[in-house]
Amino acid sequence: MSTADSQQRVVSGMRPTGALHLGHLHGVLKNWVKLQHEYECFFFVADWHALTTHYGEPTIFEQNTVDMVIDWLAVGINPGSAALFVQSKVPEHAELQLLLSMTTPLSWLERVPSYKDQQEKLQEKELGTYGFLGYPLLQAADILIYRAGLVPVGEDQVAHVELTREVARRFNHIYGSEPGFEESAHAAIKKMGKKGAKLYSQLRTAFQEQGNQNSLEKAKALVAEQQNVSLGDRERLYGYLEGVGKMILAEPQSLLTPASKMPGLDGQKMSKSYKNTISLREPLEEVEKKIRTMPTDPARVRLKDPGDPGKCPVWQLHQTYSDEKIRNWVTEGCRKAGIGCLECKKPVINSVIEELEPIQKESEQYIKDPDMVRSIIAEGNEIARDRAKETLVEVRAAMGLTRW
Ligand code: TRP
Ligand code: SF4
Repeated sequence: MSTADSQQRVVSGMRPTGALHLGHLHGVLKNWVKLQHEYECFFFVADWHALTTHYGEPTIFEQNTVDMVIDWLAVGINPGSAALFVQSKVPEHAELQLLLSMTTPLSWLERVPSYKDQQEKLQEKELGTYGFLGYPLLQAADILIYRAGLVPVGEDQVAHVELTREVARRFNHIYGSEPGFEESAHAAIKKMGKKGAKLYSQLRTAFQEQGNQNSLEKAKALVAEQQNVSLGDRERLYGYLEGVGKMILAEPQSLLTPASKMPGLDGQKMSKSYKNTISLREPLEEVEKKIRTMPTDPARVRLKDPGDPGKCPVWQLHQTYSDEKIRNWVTEGCRKAGIGCLECKKPVINSVIEELEPIQKESEQYIKDPDMVRSIIAEGNEIARDRAKETLVEVRAAMGLTRW
């Protein structure tokens, strides 16, 4: 169960393994832009994650990292609303992974579906490594270290968030039962002031005796809004509400990003490995050329041959880019052979160019000024580290590592 104030936190990462393209824009980035206004967001370049599969290509990360952050900025992610940082610059993630590794059964990692899937898919790489097996636990640490309530991910990552929840639950179970918990919880309640304490107790009773979910939510919100309560006491207050011990790590929920409808140039999912992408930095003449030469319904050999939009990847692009009027014009014109394929592609070409032009203008500014980008990243690293340290202090203490 996630705590109310961590509901406000969102964490997500992206691997710096290549240029961002329209698939990322429609599948991930537009969502991030929206989330940054609704939650406290932490978006990071997952360079350690990239190393788990690309350890043989150490030269790709540096440039890809800068380019990735530039593209984030260019599409409208605002460093004032979201911390943008680089995973390897926040070593606290690694320490938390190490600490969590003590309590995580090996079998939990072996049964994560991506473990076997990726080993089979990427046969050319040796992925029987300790780092690759541990990668979902690193991801768990990425999330838990910020006590994130929500993790925007695609379908393929849901199992990792589920593992994260299990890891947090086990941790809280082992380390949340501090001696004298009941007394410390009572002391924490007192710190909420008379009114707060009374309301908390009423809501707790309503939840524990009648299972009233609404009361639980209200009580969590009440705890979240307390100003004079330390982090440790907050964990006690949340844990005491739900009758578990101290809730040191918050269990996150995945926020499923709807599978992007953005197809690649061949109608398959847009992906670097299929070589069917339009990158965010694609020169605009190249965009035009790529779309002009896209395959269409093979039935339309000549202009007078009717076609079926359902069999045409260009139609999928219309679904992302065109309004109803144009879409009707396409279906009519295609089925009755009233328009030619080049004509049909024209509005898509225009829309993609219209979409990319301002993004590219923005990114040019940053490309010209890499120091500016570096300082944005440095600032994000700092913010992330400060937050990460707060959790780590609690985790170390819970595991008995404080007194030295
Ligand atoms: N594993 C994710 C991917 O390959 C990237 C990632 C790493 C991530 N850590 C994360 C996503 C934490 C969400 C939250 O796409
Ligand atoms: Fe595709 Fe349009 Fe040609 Fe029909 S007219 S086959 S939808 S490009």
